[in-house]
Amino acid sequence: MNIENLKKEILEKLEKSVNLKDLELLEKDYLGKKGIIRNISSSMKDLDVQAKKELGIKLNELNVFLEEKIDKKKKAIKTSETKEREEKEFLDITLPGDKVERGHIHPLSLAKKELEDIFTFLGFSVVEGPEVEDEWHNFDALNFPLDHPAREMQDTFFIKQGNRANLSQKEKFILRTHTSNVQTRYMETHKPPIKIAVPGRVFRSEATDARHEVCFYQIEGLYVDKNVSVANLKGILLRFLQEYFKDKNVKIRLRPSFFPFVEPGFEVDMSCTVCNQKGCSVCSGEGWLEILGAGMVHQNVFSSCGLKDVTGFAFGVSVDRLAMMKYKIDNIRWFHSGDLRFLKQF
Ligand code: DAH
Repeated sequence: MNIENLKKEILEKLEKSVNLKDLELLEKDYLGKKGIIRNISSSMKDLDVQAKKELGIKLNELNVFLEEKIDKKKKAIKTSETKEREEKEFLDITLPGDKVERGHIHPLSLAKKELEDIFTFLGFSVVEGPEVEDEWHNFDALNFPLDHPAREMQDTFFIKQGNRANLSQKEKFILRTHTSNVQTRYMETHKPPIKIAVPGRVFRSEATDARHEVCFYQIEGLYVDKNVSVANLKGILLRFLQEYFKDKNVKIRLRPSFFPFVEPGFEVDMSCTVCNQKGCSVCSGEGWLEILGAGMVHQNVFSSCGLKDVTGFAFGVSVDRLAMMKYKIDNIRWFHSGDLRFLKQF
């Protein structure tokens, strides 16, 4: 075998090698234990001493030469591979990061906060009560007769408790249907004068539409003292609505209505702020909008809470409804839609 030819052959192959695998293969084929150069060495034993010596030297030189060449190429490939990877994985830590969008307050939280501020300003303490309530605090203590329709399955969410017939009214649980439950809870444990505002979630088992949701917010007001009058009620309601709608021209009117826990009871209308009482689609041409329920606390309610010789007024209003009127929102279901196009406007 001509050593020069062998060298040429190997150099050509080396030239064509493009990665470390190619090189390892080349090393194995020519320089390895079973490689060609070893093969030639072991077939030298038949040559004469001089020829053996010459060939031995040549093979050794070739071996050293190749080892060096392969090693060099290996290094070159490794360097270029590293460079390529670094370029691919390059991370520019000076680039500006992704902007985290800033959240903001939900319109209902905003309304609740504004109402709390107004009632605090008017001298009311803001208190809260349980959303899962017993029937006694939600109905019985508020003078609801046992056969009142609000106690029906289609109006109220009842908590599953097995056989409810064996339970007392204080052991039967429901999702509260109004924040009026906190009237009775608070009066049981506090002495007059009482002046509280109670914001919170309430639940109704009914079909939803543009104005009704199964879950919405109310704020309840309760003022108990000696000689509280309807005039006091009107004064507080008028002031709170003027503050909330930021409009000193807001007027109210009281219409007789029935709620078991008040006597007399009223439905309260507010002058339409959209058309200034000229008549528009929001107030159906009436100039007035029904906005809340109110009345003078029924003496039966005081009795069930252990109070006597006192008078008081109470009112309850839907926070959702107030926010809808203030921001001219046409469908209550927007509030829980999670639609950012809606939410971002506040
Ligand atoms: N609780 C009533 C409701 O949810 C609203 C209400 C009416 C509350 C009259 C009151 C009141 O405190 O006096 O429909």
